[in-house]
Amino acid sequence: MSVHKEVKRVTTHVLQKMKVDGEKISMITAYDFSMARIFDDAGMDVILVGDSASNVMAGHETTLPITLDQMIYHASSVVRAIKRCFVVVDLPFGSYQGNSKEALSSAIRIMKETGAHGIKIEGGEEIIESVKRIISSGVPVMGHLGLTPQSIYKFGTYAVRATEEAEANKLLHDAQLLQEAGCFAIVLEKIPAQLAKKVAETVQIPCIGIGAGRYVDGQVLVMHDMLGINKEFKPRFLRRYLNLYEEIFKASQQYIHDVKAKDFPNENEQY
Ligand code: KIV
Repeated sequence: MSVHKEVKRVTTHVLQKMKVDGEKISMITAYDFSMARIFDDAGMDVILVGDSASNVMAGHETTLPITLDQMIYHASSVVRAIKRCFVVVDLPFGSYQGNSKEALSSAIRIMKETGAHGIKIEGGEEIIESVKRIISSGVPVMGHLGLTPQSIYKFGTYAVRATEEAEANKLLHDAQLLQEAGCFAIVLEKIPAQLAKKVAETVQIPCIGIGAGRYVDGQVLVMHDMLGINKEFKPRFLRRYLNLYEEIFKASQQYIHDVKAKDFPNENEQY
């Protein structure tokens, strides 16, 4: 029997066991109650309340504008729907870079005000003091390396990261630092599959990939991409499981038609 089927509640301990047993971890983003409930009922292992909410929910070009208060609003909506999933919330840009005290108080606000189970933070060596301080308070931390969208203006592009040896070596070193600091897992975003494999084989904690190939311990996708709500976003790594843009578009046109044609509501759809 897989760990996934056995457990009533996913914890950091369960995720670690999945890595040891070779069972892949399923993770998806969610930002609201209704979608989180479907993912939880479906048996998803981890829900990430990602700062990608800034893009897909609020329509910003980057993840930078979203605030801690807005993340708390999304995360508390998600947590109200959850029976089984492990819920991780992104620390948004500007809520942890100042110093480790600021990082800790942002993490504590998330844990206290949302009921989530852990936080995610972007970066390696440069934020390691904050990671240690948050973990020492008892909050589980997930790292995030590779393409870290909060640094998009530093990178200047959403292209694949760590294709050069120096950056690949730094990434591997950062992953080891995050593990030593006590992180329970690391997201690896948009890096070569062979590098992701090396990282996942080097560290003992689960490595969850997005655009990081098949040799990692689990996969994460942004829910709007997985469901085909974003029709413009088509990176090579994305597998779409639905074409919801088309479905919702067609349903909307049909509804407009039925209202205009005085077909909706009919005799049975009124009091
Ligand atoms: O915010 C987000 O959705 C993320 C995923 C891309 C991993 O960080």
